[in-house]
Amino acid sequence: MTTRTISPARRLRGTISVPGDKSVSHRAAMLNALASGEAAVHNFLPGDDCMSTLAVLRQLGADWSLDGATLRVRGAGLRGLREADGVLDCGNSGTTMRLMCGVLAGYDVHSVLTGDASLRTRPMARVAEPLRQMGARIDGRDGGRLAPVSVRGGALRGIRYAMPVASAQVKSAVLLAGLYAEGETIVEEPAPARDHTERMLAAMGAHVRREGAAVSIRPAAALSPLSMRVPNDISAAAFWIVAGLAHPDAEITLTGVGINPTRTGLIDALRAMGGDISTGEERTVGGEPVADIVVRSSRLEGVVVAGDTVARMIDEAPALAVAAARAAGTTEVRDAGELRVKESDRIATTASQLQALGVRVEERDNGMAIEGGAIGGGAVRSFGDHRLAMALAVAALCGTGDVRIDGAEAVSVSYPAFWDDLERLRA
Ligand code: S3P
Repeated sequence: MTTRTISPARRLRGTISVPGDKSVSHRAAMLNALASGEAAVHNFLPGDDCMSTLAVLRQLGADWSLDGATLRVRGAGLRGLREADGVLDCGNSGTTMRLMCGVLAGYDVHSVLTGDASLRTRPMARVAEPLRQMGARIDGRDGGRLAPVSVRGGALRGIRYAMPVASAQVKSAVLLAGLYAEGETIVEEPAPARDHTERMLAAMGAHVRREGAAVSIRPAAALSPLSMRVPNDISAAAFWIVAGLAHPDAEITLTGVGINPTRTGLIDALRAMGGDISTGEERTVGGEPVADIVVRSSRLEGVVVAGDTVARMIDEAPALAVAAARAAGTTEVRDAGELRVKESDRIATTASQLQALGVRVEERDNGMAIEGGAIGGGAVRSFGDHRLAMALAVAALCGTGDVRIDGAEAVSVSYPAFWDDLERLRA
């Protein structure tokens, strides 16, 4: 385990190009592995999570090579993966496990998926349930609720599935299985979850349609390969957006950030708090909207963040909590029960670690209330959660004392160069 001590920054200045989007990178690898032909994916995120996806795909017979951030994939075809001769290790990555369950449900082969200690505590019934309804045999520990999970797929039928929680991973798993099912598969979402899978499948020639809160897909004979550039990850940019607003002497530019509307809840919430965030001209990269983002020191005020906005910033809650800790008044995060089943219980871990830095945080069943004020120094830990580690580092930059972060290596899950970028902004 690595420990890092971060001191408060006197000022923060600079231009950062955060790494490629994690969600888009996973999908670009998986879908191109199922396509018929070759594709080059630029700005692929070579973080631990996406490397788990690549390793799993290789075990299933997919052919790819990675040179820096350029991934080349020679697609096996929709039905061209083969039975793995070992257990598929998804590491820390829920996206790898849940989306691959959807793909493997289309194959009449035996697959076993597992992951690290964190992933083995995360709920899998949410994908097992609809995939079983489609005809796949899914089992796992605790009655199929926990990994290791086994999948025996094949002969699927399309279903209409109303998701009980807004989850892009569940939606994606069902849509991917729908590629192999007989008839139409329809997923209804209770709130807008990220839509990268739908966008990419459509760009690859699949019959995907959105109607209101539902997405439907028809079985496909083949997918066309999709060469693309991955937009920079707004969930990584989130840390510098918060740092730039919450620090009293900051101006930070983030280039080429994906601003897909299903991902921009944090920007909306921070603007409502009074954050000075300007977005440059919007362009399209890899079928996704991107823009440069400039943030400057702002006088933030507490707000209530709830409903769809929370669904659109679910990974950014730890970062938002740091902004809230520097705002005037109280910020309430509601409707965020999903935070309890992320890489850590992010309600409990964000609250306890900010409390360790002297911030007053009230933990609630489905959210938290953060009282703004000063952030002090202290000793905290990441619980192996990359986003918590990065949020705590930003808290340190904007605080009044040194912060010792145990488990700092967790950042490599989604942002391997995080500590280098932090030092560049401080210089
Ligand atoms: C992701 C979906 C979200 C998110 C995760 C990545 C994805 O999870 O928290 O980090 O790439 O589909 P849920 O689908 O469980 O909400």
